[in-house]
Amino acid sequence: MCGIVGYIGEQDACPILIDGLKRLEYRGYDSAGVAVLNGGGIDIRKSVGKLRALENVLEDCAPHGCIGIGHTRWATHGRPSDENAHPHSDCTGRITVVHNGIIENYVELKDRLVRGGHEFKSETDTEVAAHLIESHYKGDIAQAVRNAASEMDGSFALVVIAQNEPDKIIAARRHSPLVIGLGEGENYLASDVAAFLKYTRSVVYADDNNVVTITREGISVTDLDGNLIDKKAQTVDWDAAMAERGGYEHFMLKEIHEQPRALRETMRGRLSLEKNCVELPGINLTHDEIRKIDRIVMIACGTAYHASMAGKYAIEQLCRIPVELDVASELRYRDPIVDEHTLGIVISQSGETLDTMVGLNEVKNKGAKVIAITNVVGSMAARDAHGVLYTYAGPEIAVASTKAYTTQLMVLYLVALYFAQIRGTLDEQRATELREALWELPQKAELILNDVTAIESAAARYYCFNGFLYMARGANLASALEGALKVKEISYMHAEGYAAGEMKHGPIAMIDPTFATITVAVKSKTYDKILSNIREVKARSGDVIAIANPGDTTISDYADRVITVPETEEIFSPVLVAVPLQLMAYFVAYNRGPAIDQPRNLAKTVTVE
Ligand code: AGP
Repeated sequence: MCGIVGYIGEQDACPILIDGLKRLEYRGYDSAGVAVLNGGGIDIRKSVGKLRALENVLEDCAPHGCIGIGHTRWATHGRPSDENAHPHSDCTGRITVVHNGIIENYVELKDRLVRGGHEFKSETDTEVAAHLIESHYKGDIAQAVRNAASEMDGSFALVVIAQNEPDKIIAARRHSPLVIGLGEGENYLASDVAAFLKYTRSVVYADDNNVVTITREGISVTDLDGNLIDKKAQTVDWDAAMAERGGYEHFMLKEIHEQPRALRETMRGRLSLEKNCVELPGINLTHDEIRKIDRIVMIACGTAYHASMAGKYAIEQLCRIPVELDVASELRYRDPIVDEHTLGIVISQSGETLDTMVGLNEVKNKGAKVIAITNVVGSMAARDAHGVLYTYAGPEIAVASTKAYTTQLMVLYLVALYFAQIRGTLDEQRATELREALWELPQKAELILNDVTAIESAAARYYCFNGFLYMARGANLASALEGALKVKEISYMHAEGYAAGEMKHGPIAMIDPTFATITVAVKSKTYDKILSNIREVKARSGDVIAIANPGDTTISDYADRVITVPETEEIFSPVLVAVPLQLMAYFVAYNRGPAIDQPRNLAKTVTVE
């Protein structure tokens, strides 16, 4: 995790670095720091806490210079403190680094360096990188970084400045994101394009084991042996305004409201009612390959994993292909059974989650074709998979994922319809009904967002309860888990998602008048079963909020409160059900007061194991 930035040009670097770090704060916010080359030496300022704390430090004594690097930290090695905040320097203070990732052999490297006389000031693995580069420095900083990187195991995106070579910044990466922004007479480096989007949309993505030298005039990239690599620039089609809050109090609320647009953009060019078909350019699978798939393995973490649960339901229903789900951190250690007829589907908003990327390569190396569903163009997932299907959600800044989730669902439904079309598992009339239902989802999501008062008022009643139980069946089991995750991560309240049929096997013991049950009771083949489950909760004095369809006259006899979402096909309903559950979590958190966009202990992108 952690966010890193670098700037070289003619402008004062510090304000540009701080602005970039603001856009990367979602990656971690335990401490922040900057280092600027000022002609005489390297000036470092850092502070524990959010970026605001660093800005307070800078108010009195900002460093000046036109080359600098910056960092916002999510602590892994060493508690959040001023000493452990990046940047870190070598013994001489002439070489300074910021780092995202984990240097797994840092203990061994540190022992060797300490024996060689190096003195350490922090508990971080990053400081090892600074001293290791120092130990290799013989007047060529790029070469010293190459030598140091060759000795480091684990993941890193490193950005380095050296007092003796004040006209360049060096960067290196392995398994952690690093992107270069190309300007006019100035260039940028960052973990994510959001950091420099207001200056340039022309970017180059560094690959694993690339070492990059950036100067004011240009960039050069080599491998660890120093061989030059030709890199092509790409244009990012996000603009800076897309990464701003746009009048909303929090990014999360803005991103919830962006869902109708994001869903439309994700469908555009793929679902056509006129042509009566789904087209998926980018999937990079022949019809023959699709017909031969005998199993799908989905790999994801967190919210993306919940999307995979709903995707499994749709693909199995519509294509009759068995789908296996794996939390990525489990897949990598269980030696999954995969062959050339298995299709891997990797789902990741960032396209950089470490466990998911390891899972991707695990199934790829075993002979499976892999497609990535990701939101970030050029991300590791996009580059490593055989095919890529982008979710066009735009930048998602809030740590709690919302529009990325519903657009992931949309892509999975498109995949299900596309495979069904090629494998002939649906009759034409049913396929047409489903395409039409999918087409209507953005507009139906808009209807929910037009009036959120019922959700706001429910949150005002339940935010002081002891916790929430989310229960659902079928495709909406994913909604229950995702609804509970949203509340947990931004309210820090106890919340559990359960298959309603499991209630009697344990969770029902938790029910009392201070524990609210949120249930999904939209039209489905298990609707009657859900009604019985509600009765069971009510019989134990539980308070029940039901997500149901308008015109359902039965549900109000069962539940204490009803929140409605427009009716749709059961398999697609998780998209609409997600919206009130996201809003419920948002308003509950709002009433309780934590930092909604940056919940404690979390970071947006988990690039460590
Ligand atoms: C959910 O709100 C979280 N932010 C988290 O569970 C997230 O979905 C997970 O870390 C996976 O991230 P990715 O989609 O970028 O791989």
